[in-house]
Amino acid sequence: MSKLEKIEFTAENLARYKEYLTRYDDIESALLPTLHLAQEQFGWLPDHIVKYLAELMGIPEIHIKEVISFYDMLYDTPVGRNIVHVCTNITCSMFGGREIYQGLLKHYETDFLTPTRDGRISIQKMECLGACEIAPCMRLNNDFLGNVDLQTAIHKIDELP
Ligand code: FES
Repeated sequence: MSKLEKIEFTAENLARYKEYLTRYDDIESALLPTLHLAQEQFGWLPDHIVKYLAELMGIPEIHIKEVISFYDMLYDTPVGRNIVHVCTNITCSMFGGREIYQGLLKHYETDFLTPTRDGRISIQKMECLGACEIAPCMRLNNDFLGNVDLQTAIHKIDELP
């Protein structure tokens, strides 16, 4: 998206944003869902999006950037259209999580979070995804995949748009 293009929420997302505001007593509490909404629309959260949100919400840009840098699932660098989270924490690692992560990076010729050449995916190693009972596990966008091996992971990732 060109920086010269007008940056603003779509009418539908603006309505969702306004609905978020009704859920909280203060506007800062609505920041996290608003950032996820912005990322959903714009793909990632570069400076010009942060500026738009700062003006929209009346929250200092520096504070918004701090929040983005704190959370693993908010991105201030470009990412692929699909996000692949691979758990490499202890339980999943005992069942091959780290090897799956390394195997995926090698297969897709990429590195941590770096979008593949076609821009289709970014692969991110994560701490516990909260699904240790299906270790080793990963998440393809919002869908969990458990008891996975490298070949199954590649097969499922290749089905992503
Ligand atoms: S250690 Fe992987 S989901 Fe908990």
